[in-house]
Amino acid sequence: MPSSIVIGTQWGDEGKGKIIDILASQAEVVVRSQGGNNAGHTVVNNGETYKLHLIPSGILYPDTLCLIGAGVVLDPKSFLEELNMLREKNISAENLRIDPRAHIVMPWHIVLDGLSEEFRGNSDIGTTKRGIGPTYMDKYERCGIRMYDLVHPEIFREKALATGKLKNKIIKEVYGGKEIDLDTVIDEYIAYGKQLAEFVDDVSVLTYDAYKAGKNIMFEGAQATLLDIDFGTYPYVTSSHPLSGGVCIGTGVGPKMIDRIIGVAKAYTTRVGKGPFPTELDDETGETIRNVGGEFGTTTGRPRRTGWFDAVIVRHSVRVNGLDGIALNKLDTLSNLGDLKICTGYKMPDSTIIRNFPPTLEGLEGCQPIYETVPGFSDDISSCRTYDELPQACKDYIKRVEELCECPVAMVGVGPDRSQIIIRD
Ligand code: GDP
Ligand code: IMO
Ligand code: MG
Repeated sequence: MPSSIVIGTQWGDEGKGKIIDILASQAEVVVRSQGGNNAGHTVVNNGETYKLHLIPSGILYPDTLCLIGAGVVLDPKSFLEELNMLREKNISAENLRIDPRAHIVMPWHIVLDGLSEEFRGNSDIGTTKRGIGPTYMDKYERCGIRMYDLVHPEIFREKALATGKLKNKIIKEVYGGKEIDLDTVIDEYIAYGKQLAEFVDDVSVLTYDAYKAGKNIMFEGAQATLLDIDFGTYPYVTSSHPLSGGVCIGTGVGPKMIDRIIGVAKAYTTRVGKGPFPTELDDETGETIRNVGGEFGTTTGRPRRTGWFDAVIVRHSVRVNGLDGIALNKLDTLSNLGDLKICTGYKMPDSTIIRNFPPTLEGLEGCQPIYETVPGFSDDISSCRTYDELPQACKDYIKRVEELCECPVAMVGVGPDRSQIIIRD
């Protein structure tokens, strides 16, 4: 059985959770490899909505092994809240494992995320304030606390006390913030560690064993290509590698173990947080897309910025991720908008035209999107289940996306439910 990566091609919230959940019906293992509870993945099954942040979207299938890899940063409190939410809905977490190498988000990371955003003032990034950046900073500074430490109270106490003292100094003396009561935090986190100990296992080994046994493995991306720390719109990005290449590093598997890479895109574009957005619609059409598409953050509830489909961005994703296919979600949201626009390239201030997404913010400055107008549709497509049932305008839209992005559209989303999908290959 093949192993597949599912990643985001735009700025996140493309409906990765839904696609993973659909494909997970045939998967025996689902693995998260980066990010943390800054992610918000929605799965809708039979009218019931599940919002997952850290737990892989395969969890709704009782026999699927759900793994949290070494590259994830884990907030224990948030993880346990999510676990309780699932237990209340009678969903078993028996098949859940966390790599001992995964770094722990501590309260000082969350406080410092907020303080540094405040300090940046108008130049803030618009982070989710979940402590993600500061936790990855400590990981690369080599002073982080890992899952293994959390479940060994003596090791944890020593490390947390040493780091916590330094963090309190920074909070108080650099930012003028309120110090954290370390004794209380350490006791609280030791209690979390006790609850988490049963989940700790080597995810690299578990994934490799599953692969050797011929099992079907899905790698679940969080965030997305333009939020990648290197290939995104730096500095308006997250602090991990949401690209397909990041999956191998964050899980501990080799690139030859990957058979298929699916990039999830919306039929338009959204972004939550600050940073450039060439096709942004600051008008009534943008507002309509936001309301009809329910474009409000799954994690923070913030309204998402909306805009036309940008083929420059998705073509960039096809290249940097090596995509085999696109899952084009939310085509239903474009119904009744009149004529639709697709961005095919950018016009630079000196009138040259570029087709590749610029590597820097400076390169994006003054870029104007070049639009192609295509016919819209007014049909309700939410009950279409085959490509042939779609109106001609939808088929033409999909074909144009494929041509411009140089990648086949393998799946089309026509609604939030698990069943509302057209699978083409
Ligand atoms: P993720 O972070 O990529 O998993 O995406 P989110 O869950 O944050 O946001 C996607 C939103 O769109 C969720 O509310 C989904 O239920 C919803 N959704 C996913 N696919 C479709 C689709 O094809 N049509 C519609 N109307 N909604 C969808
Ligand atoms: P999913 O997996 C959309 C954005 C934040 C901010 C930037 C940095 O649901 O697609 P961070 O808290 O990571 O330091 O914030 O990244 N961001 C997301 N936007 N979807 C996400 O995840 C995101 N995770 C982070 O809004 O702009
Ligand atoms: Mg999301």
